[in-house]
Amino acid sequence: MKKITVAIDGFSSCGKSTMAKELAGETGYIYVDTGAMYRAVALYCIGNGWITATEMDAAQIEKQLDDIYITFKTNAEGKTETYLNGENVETAIRTLEVANGASRVSTLGFVRRELVRRQQAMGADKGVVMDGRDIGTVVFPDAELKIFLTASPEVRALRRLKELEAKGENANYDEVLANVKERDDRDQNRAESPLRKAEDAVVIDNSNLTREEQRDLLRTLFNEKTL
Ligand code: DC
Repeated sequence: MKKITVAIDGFSSCGKSTMAKELAGETGYIYVDTGAMYRAVALYCIGNGWITATEMDAAQIEKQLDDIYITFKTNAEGKTETYLNGENVETAIRTLEVANGASRVSTLGFVRRELVRRQQAMGADKGVVMDGRDIGTVVFPDAELKIFLTASPEVRALRRLKELEAKGENANYDEVLANVKERDDRDQNRAESPLRKAEDAVVIDNSNLTREEQRDLLRTLFNEKTL
């Protein structure tokens, strides 16, 4: 069977990572969560005071970027977890604060160029499912299968709210919806690699799809490219 590159892009809280992880699990492909890489950079910067509620010290971030070492490891349950300089940060990077920091840090061209370089190295041998915002447009423009996943902001806010509640975080629907819209706006309108659909990407709107329907659809698209 031919090994390919699968690029999954789309808005935040669309279920990209669930979709990508599932496909990687079924096919034995490597899964790379590029959002987790931007989140890990943000966590490091927040921890060092270079990103605060109102300010971002881009000069410091640029100087220290090479000190931010990000890896992924699979845990005993088969789940991929993110490590920042050797420390497991999988839980720490999933807060709203870090999500906002990641959205801001991802506007910096030098951060994007460095993370894109690392992502290209991770996927150099194909057999990879990578999710993010610019995978099909910038990281792997030649990917054999490109998906652009989308859902309405309201549906995504509800999903995000449930996730946050399950983790015991305090959040309300209006706040989460505003956050989803703010991030959409920043993701689509930043100067560096804004979120956009690659011309050859297949659009999947999963607002009204069950997880099984989505999985079957993706598997059909994958089989068409590999069999
Ligand atoms: O997918 P996520 O919510 O974990 O991503 C966190 C932030 O990182 C989000 O605001 C968009 C940004 N991001 C990006 O700019 N490019 C990527 N390839 C992945 C994420």
